[in-house]
Amino acid sequence: MQIPNLLEAKKRSNQEVFVKTNEYIVKEDLKKLGLGKTYFVKTYGCQMNEHDGENIKAILEDMSFTEIDDMEKADIILLNTCAIRENAHNKVFGYLGRVKHLKEERPDVIAGLCGCMAQEEVVVHEIMQKHQYLDFVFGTHNIHELPSILNNVIETKSQQIQVYSKEGDIIENIPVKRASKYKAWVNIMYGCDKFCTYCIVPYTRGKQRSRKHEDILAEVNCLVKNGYQEVTLLGQNVNAYGKDLKEDYKMENLLEDVAKTGIKRVRFVTSHPWDFTDEMIDVIARYHNIMPYIHLPLQSGSSRILKLMGRKYSKESYLALAHKIKEKIPNCSLTTDIIVGFPGETEQDFQETLSVVNELKYDSAFTFIFSPRVGTPAASMEDNVSLETKEERLQRLNQLVNQYALEANQKYQDQIVPVLLEDVSEKNETMLMGYTDTMKLVNVKADLQYLGSIVNVKITDIKTWSMDGEMVDK
Ligand code: SAH
Ligand code: SF4
Ligand code: F3S
Repeated sequence: MQIPNLLEAKKRSNQEVFVKTNEYIVKEDLKKLGLGKTYFVKTYGCQMNEHDGENIKAILEDMSFTEIDDMEKADIILLNTCAIRENAHNKVFGYLGRVKHLKEERPDVIAGLCGCMAQEEVVVHEIMQKHQYLDFVFGTHNIHELPSILNNVIETKSQQIQVYSKEGDIIENIPVKRASKYKAWVNIMYGCDKFCTYCIVPYTRGKQRSRKHEDILAEVNCLVKNGYQEVTLLGQNVNAYGKDLKEDYKMENLLEDVAKTGIKRVRFVTSHPWDFTDEMIDVIARYHNIMPYIHLPLQSGSSRILKLMGRKYSKESYLALAHKIKEKIPNCSLTTDIIVGFPGETEQDFQETLSVVNELKYDSAFTFIFSPRVGTPAASMEDNVSLETKEERLQRLNQLVNQYALEANQKYQDQIVPVLLEDVSEKNETMLMGYTDTMKLVNVKADLQYLGSIVNVKITDIKTWSMDGEMVDK
């Protein structure tokens, strides 16, 4: 039994991080454990967590379990959770109600919880007290231990909690079951050391650890060989890539080398404005296969609030960076994240946020009401803003964001743009869906045979969050 500890999670050690290439093993007797049995994994949260979900599925398949998309019928249920805001928690605890009910009907079902919520001390205590029906909990640092944890559940028939607060080494040999045959997520770093005052991620994901560029490039080369069209390089703060490594090899070098593999499309998330260098902008502008799409979280337009958030940039320096990006990268689309109702945010502060939105006219934005996270500095800051005011600000912000999103899309009317067709459209089964290089969602009239191809599409109809189009040629 290993329970997470908030104070431990806060610490940053100078201990060297090792790269381990044979840490993940499935013992011979566990390889057949899941024969004839099924699993269901439900993932919440960011792309990194989605990608962890892909690893978890592959590990379960290494033990011969088969994926099933109906939770009610599965032999193993695993919730891969997110802790970023209160509502993420609520969703998971809501879902756990269904799991509990199912376990009452079918006691042989094995149910577990992993991901960022598992890293939270308060959550694990709650699970131990109120959710005894959960069979196991493991964290973000020990996904590779899933086979032995599962085996312990079966052998001991007691609740297994195995969560480490100190991040471990980089483990390179974890298998992956990718959700798509055409686009892939590739981790380039783990953890985050920025400690923005509102954010739980540095506690749930540990200190920043960059993967070796050789390992990243080997993975991308392998994807190219297997016909993948697109990679998205993943990290909480990708622009800081390499700063924790001894050699002088930074994000701009990695972007350039990934572009040179010849993969058709390179994307990356998320960029912290603080570490965005001119060299990076130059590389993005120079390579046609690095997509002209930048997600650049603003969080707030008020320099006073940004300081309280610990973001280390001001409204002015953010605007200067965004304008530089727009000037140097032709047709670049720009999206952002914004938090309203940070403790003590005044109407004036909020107006500063609106003024940035008005100036940059984002292609789209994810907007959130500040949610206090236990253990973070902002959670104990005095907050005199009522929930009503916060909700009203969110609505005003969303109205503006939607207006600019629609305007940005309207520029595409009748244009011919490249789209990577990745799936059948959710809205209309006779259409395919995909994204433009600028990350616009398009539903396309096209034949199934073009799935997985980048095709030219004429945009025929514009909506706020998507467009319709017809394929004109390949
Ligand atoms: N690493 C990214 C952000 C990852 S979290 C970055 O630094 O930009 C995704 C978004 O969730 C954040 O950009 C922020 O807007 C939002 N978020 C994080 N913590 C939050 C909190 N406590 N309350 C509300 N929104 C939050
Ligand atoms: Fe959270 Fe800030 Fe790190 Fe992003 S950079 S994950 S917001 S602490
Ligand atoms: Fe959520 Fe963890 Fe990602 S808190 S946003 S799943 S890093």
